[in-house]
Amino acid sequence: MRILVLGGTRFLGHAVAAEGVRRGHEVVCAARGSSGVPEGARLVKVDRDLEDGLAPLRGERFDAVVDVATISYEWVQRALAEFGATAKHWTFVSSISVYADPGAEPTGIGDPVLEPRAVHGTREGMASDPNLYGAVKVAGERAVLDAAGDRAFIVRAGLITGPGDEFDRFGYWVQRLARGGRVVVPDVDHQSQFVDVRDLANWIVDAGERGTTGVYDGIGPVVPLLDLLADIAEVLGSEVEFVRVSEADLRANGVAPWMGPRSLPFWLPTGYHKMSARDAGPALAAGLTPMPLADAVAGALAHERSLDPNRVRKAGLTPDEETEILQRVG
Ligand SMILES: NC(=O)c1ccc[n+]([C@@H]2O[C@H](COP(=O)([O-])OP(=O)(O)OC[C@H]3O[C@@H](n4cnc5c(N)ncnc54)[C@H](OP(=O)(O)O)[C@@H]3O)[C@@H](O)[C@H]2O)c1
Repeated sequence: MRILVLGGTRFLGHAVAAEGVRRGHEVVCAARGSSGVPEGARLVKVDRDLEDGLAPLRGERFDAVVDVATISYEWVQRALAEFGATAKHWTFVSSISVYADPGAEPTGIGDPVLEPRAVHGTREGMASDPNLYGAVKVAGERAVLDAAGDRAFIVRAGLITGPGDEFDRFGYWVQRLARGGRVVVPDVDHQSQFVDVRDLANWIVDAGERGTTGVYDGIGPVVPLLDLLADIAEVLGSEVEFVRVSEADLRANGVAPWMGPRSLPFWLPTGYHKMSARDAGPALAAGLTPMPLADAVAGALAHERSLDPNRVRKAGLTPDEETEILQRVG
């Protein structure tokens, strides 16, 4: 196949491109090229912020297009205008953030979604409006379904982990549990879910090869959060003692859920407890195949260890912060 990855220089797009090359496909990555594409893929430099930004690829035809456009409806539309009529298969990477009520019991992809917003979102806009990201994804999904619905594979990804992850969430727990000792964990009984970037990439390339279409939650099986942490510690062979701290005490000690400085990732804020309780069944039936936890953990740990340990993390507690909390809560 000739595969066009709109992206391909980072995390998921990079993993899709690498998997395409590994399987012997011809892979073209379209991005500004701020970091490299996998060996064997061709980078075509484009700027999707420009009205005619995809011009360097004009006239090319692809069997499969994979668009990881994060927060821009305009990007999605321009790509469809350029290649939507000729591509034989179209993957659009969306998000479980499309769902309108992350506190409601999930029933499947038919759950109500946010009102679409056909705008060019920005990171600043996302920070001030938590629904913007999901609403732009809804608009993107609709544009893809309108233009290429009979060939469209819409993946509503949940939390993605593994090599290249820039969000420090799963990685926080893996490196923390690898250190062993007394570990501050949230005293919660909600579920957790993740999908390894390599599994997602495999599934997306499979979908292009097989012509899989439809809308899916792209996420692995549900597991109670504290069980997941215990399982990670076990595959790491770490000696740990979980110090369960109530949500109230965590908040009183300035700890935030999910992400950001002084946070505990995977701890879901009130009103979001069902965000990680989606049914992975349809995705698994359609070919998503999660690797063993030990492999997911090994990949995430190797990635963590390739990063500067002194960087400012995007999620988690610093060792000093955790010690301070342990001293206060006992
Ligand atoms: N991370 C998660 O847990 C999570 C969860 C749910 C859904 N998702 C979705 O999963 C996808 C992740 O994809 P990813 O990791 O490949 O994306 P990403 O990290 O957001 O990277 C975006 C890609 O777009 C390119 N790009 C950025 N600005 C550009 C511009 N002006 N013109 C052309 N290309 C540009 C970047 O390359 P250059 O910088 O080289 O241009 C990069 O290859 C996204 O759709 C995200 O919304 C992620």
